[in-house]
Amino acid sequence: MSENVNTIYIEKWAYGGYGLGKLPGGKLIFVEGAYPGELVNVKITEEKSDVAFGKVEEILERANYRRVPKCKYFGVCGGCHIMDIDYKKQLELKREVVVDQLKRIAKFDGKVSDTIESDIEFGYRNKMEYTFTYENNKVKLGLKMRNSNKVVDIDDCPISPTSFNKALQEIPEIVEISKVKIYNPKSRAGTLKHLVMRYSHSNNQTMAIFVTKTERFEEAEFIRTQILNRIPQINSIIHVMNSSDEIVLRGPYKTLYGSGVLEVEMDYEKFQIPPTAFFQNNYNVAVKMVDFVTKNLNLTGSENILDLYAGIGTFTMRLAMLSRNVVAVESSHISVKAGKANANINNLRNIRYEESDVVEFLKSYTGNADIIILDPPRSGAGKEVCKEILRIKPHKIAYISCDSSTLARDIALLKEDYNIIAVQPFDMFPQTYHVETVVLMERKER
Ligand SMILES: C[S@@+](CC[C@H](N)C(=O)[O-])C[C@H]1O[C@@H](n2cnc3c(N)ncnc32)[C@H](O)[C@@H]1O
Repeated sequence: MSENVNTIYIEKWAYGGYGLGKLPGGKLIFVEGAYPGELVNVKITEEKSDVAFGKVEEILERANYRRVPKCKYFGVCGGCHIMDIDYKKQLELKREVVVDQLKRIAKFDGKVSDTIESDIEFGYRNKMEYTFTYENNKVKLGLKMRNSNKVVDIDDCPISPTSFNKALQEIPEIVEISKVKIYNPKSRAGTLKHLVMRYSHSNNQTMAIFVTKTERFEEAEFIRTQILNRIPQINSIIHVMNSSDEIVLRGPYKTLYGSGVLEVEMDYEKFQIPPTAFFQNNYNVAVKMVDFVTKNLNLTGSENILDLYAGIGTFTMRLAMLSRNVVAVESSHISVKAGKANANINNLRNIRYEESDVVEFLKSYTGNADIIILDPPRSGAGKEVCKEILRIKPHKIAYISCDSSTLARDIALLKEDYNIIAVQPFDMFPQTYHVETVVLMERKER
């Protein structure tokens, strides 16, 4: 065995999708592609003073919950990480990560419920961001490799709905014939960067979004006509102009075909979602999460609610139906506009949208709130937001998180004045290591 390869027993599953073991001498090693209970030969890829990282070279003792992954690109494409283990085991491992993060960072060792599953393990994504590239002078379309900007050319993705796969098969050729230049992030030359596909599972609508570097996109008309002939499933085509190389979907847009919004319906509400606005990525789990949060807050109809990071109003609408009023705080202009429209569509007059950064809003907020719900991006709410929440003293808090480490960091602060009533993981992203968590808290009696 080479010097750089060690035999490691994987003791547990760690945040970020790694199997965790120890090197001879006791240093922790985070191993990509290994699962708890396995004995593996690991090649060290990075060694720091306190921890190391590695990749599996050979599995010596294989976990019995491993399975054959359903995707031919698994292991190369960075989209999925754990498609090679049973779905039930995926749910268990995700719960363990939440338990571990809350214990280590927030010093919470109370109950964490079993992960609520996604009704569909595959085809669940309602948004995918693909990248265009050239390979041997031909147009290719695909997903990025893990921790890399290299694009894997794909023509089928099992976690996407069928209309996205049809687009993956047809659009590279349409783009090739159109002769539009593909953008090269190194030279910063070229036009077309990404295809973003969005889907409404409730209304069976598909939106194709072409993202270009600049406003110029003369080939758009040809591409539009070809799509309408070849991919009848697509009922909305959008052109987004975005000069940023970091964020895929943002910037001004033009509707090339169709209504220009995606329509989504839940049991009690309807939403219109603009092309660049956030929406939860797995419809059936979003439905379960809205039900869980609104039911477990035990609303009486008399509450004043602050809904922070409200987006287009996924939680806002139901909360407004069950309470006195909701103030929805959101920084994206497009989402605020859509949120107000959604309030109208649902005939709700007790929602006030505030277009603002959450910290700025809270700092100048002098009112009270019975309940605060917050659903921040991956970076979490942070110290300043938590400080303001503690000042406002809501009776209950519902924290919806897509990153268990920033969740645990923020819970450590809120725990001073709040008891944790429920911790509920949801499987918003099957086949990946990501886990969504709802934490419900109640103010301590003093
Ligand atoms: C995870 S999404 C949640 C949206 C919504 N609650 C939902 O379920 O659809 C986070 C939202 O916070 C918004 N956002 C991000 N940073 C923000 C900030 N500092 N202040 C206000 N809104 C912010 C984003 O535009 C996005 O709509």
